[in-house]
Amino acid sequence: MKKLKILMAASEVVPFAKSGGLADVAGALPKALRNLGHDVRVVMPRYYGIDKQKYQLKPLLGSLGVPMGIMGEEWAEVYEGVLPQSDVPVYFIEYERYFGREGLYDENGVAYSDNDNRFIFLSKAVMQLAKKLHFQPDILHANDWHTAILPLLLNTTYRSDPHFAQTASVLSIHNLQHQGEFYKGVMDVLDVGWEHFTVDELECYDRVNLLKGGIVHANAFNTVSKRYAQEIGTEAFGWGLEGVVLAHQAKLFGILNGVDYEEWSPAIDPFIIQHYDSGAMGGKALCKRALQERFGLPVRADVPLFGLVGRLAEQKGIGLLAEAVRGLLEMDIQIVLLGTGESWAEAFFSEIAGAYPSKFGCYIGYRNDLAHQIEAGSDFFLMPSLFEPCGLNQIYSLRYGTLPIVRATGGLDDTITNYQPHQGKGTGFKFYDSTADALYGTVKWAVETYYHDPKGVKQLIANAMAERFSWEESARGYEAMYAFSLRERFGSHPEVAR
Ligand code: ADP
Ligand code: GLC
Repeated sequence: MKKLKILMAASEVVPFAKSGGLADVAGALPKALRNLGHDVRVVMPRYYGIDKQKYQLKPLLGSLGVPMGIMGEEWAEVYEGVLPQSDVPVYFIEYERYFGREGLYDENGVAYSDNDNRFIFLSKAVMQLAKKLHFQPDILHANDWHTAILPLLLNTTYRSDPHFAQTASVLSIHNLQHQGEFYKGVMDVLDVGWEHFTVDELECYDRVNLLKGGIVHANAFNTVSKRYAQEIGTEAFGWGLEGVVLAHQAKLFGILNGVDYEEWSPAIDPFIIQHYDSGAMGGKALCKRALQERFGLPVRADVPLFGLVGRLAEQKGIGLLAEAVRGLLEMDIQIVLLGTGESWAEAFFSEIAGAYPSKFGCYIGYRNDLAHQIEAGSDFFLMPSLFEPCGLNQIYSLRYGTLPIVRATGGLDDTITNYQPHQGKGTGFKFYDSTADALYGTVKWAVETYYHDPKGVKQLIANAMAERFSWEESARGYEAMYAFSLRERFGSHPEVAR
């Protein structure tokens, strides 16, 4: 395939800023595309917490004018860095009033009231920056609602701008629940013309829906697993956009995320007490011991230890866990949980930790080192999500020989195969109903397998650790989508056909 110029925008990128899996993807996919020979560049906000010195960010000369419609022009500074261990440029948009804050999207659980302006600003800055850099992208790649207006801007404000005459757009949806819905007055900031405020484009129940605009205007869009791509066309998973998804299904792709095995491998992980790998599993027992000590649980090699790391949001099935947890703790097991999110959940699980100090450990907060230690030290990993576009932790778990217990939805269903006891097959344990009973039953099955079928467990661990989800393969999926988007926009594109 022809080498492409790709401009990717995301609201969070590892290692600079992260709240969830989007950052993992935005930090890894560009490197994989670079390895395939593409000229890919990334744009993100320069949040207050991003240390310019630590990442050796260099200022670009001159300020960047960003036209904000009714609010007039606003001026950003731009800093340049690279993704670690690569030469992929990352451009940081600095604007104190929007990004000089503690949180990415919210503080103390309350979303910033100007998130519409903040991310419209980011998206418009992406377009302006491309021009300032004289970088004429073949592909504009938006991610989630924050940058979903890039395809819209390309089709409206920049439609006849020669700078973008060769450019097609794609949108990756990492989570359809969050759509960027705002008061319609924001149309005057978007400044693309009120004729786009219709039910076929940006309007949704008299409000502006930025993600919808992205789906409509992108030349192609994708979700991060095939299964989720099918699910979002249904009422149960569409969050009201299922009709729009179905109307644009012909340009919808499902591309599974990969894993950055430089970061998530027990053989080289700098955060764990002892390295291990299939064939030399001794270190895992030490990691388990360290984890039990870390959470003040009785140090026992013989008890099955379940880990959970994630945003404490309904999406993650924490409601099911909350309902099931007392029953689960009647078994001879231990559970450790790391997460932040909804305040009821933070309070509830802290209370459970207080009530069952020898069985349940809980850390409310965001700790990357601890996330690694839980992956390494647990025997099983809980992901009872109600929906899951891809999910990364269950894939990390496979590599650490920590058997995932998942609900069969989205990427969880695509990445984990259920244990088939007599055939030695499977990489984890699956359940189907989103009920506490189904979760309980499956954990019980895992516990019984752990105590009574050690050979089966060993086989499952070997199967799990042999799995690979490479970013190279995902990047090839993105190449196919980019080629499609260029054909969509320009008809048969001679450059792409090669
Ligand atoms: P989502 O993007 O929906 O949050 P994913 O499974 O795709 O779910 O990715 C979550 C990522 O965020 C993983 O890398 C996980 O380790 C990390 N993560 C989530 N919560 C925490 C936390 N409290 N501390 C450390 N890492 C976390
Ligand atoms: C989202 C999804 C998660 C996915 C991640 C990265 O936040 O909730 O399932 O793995 O994005 O694509």
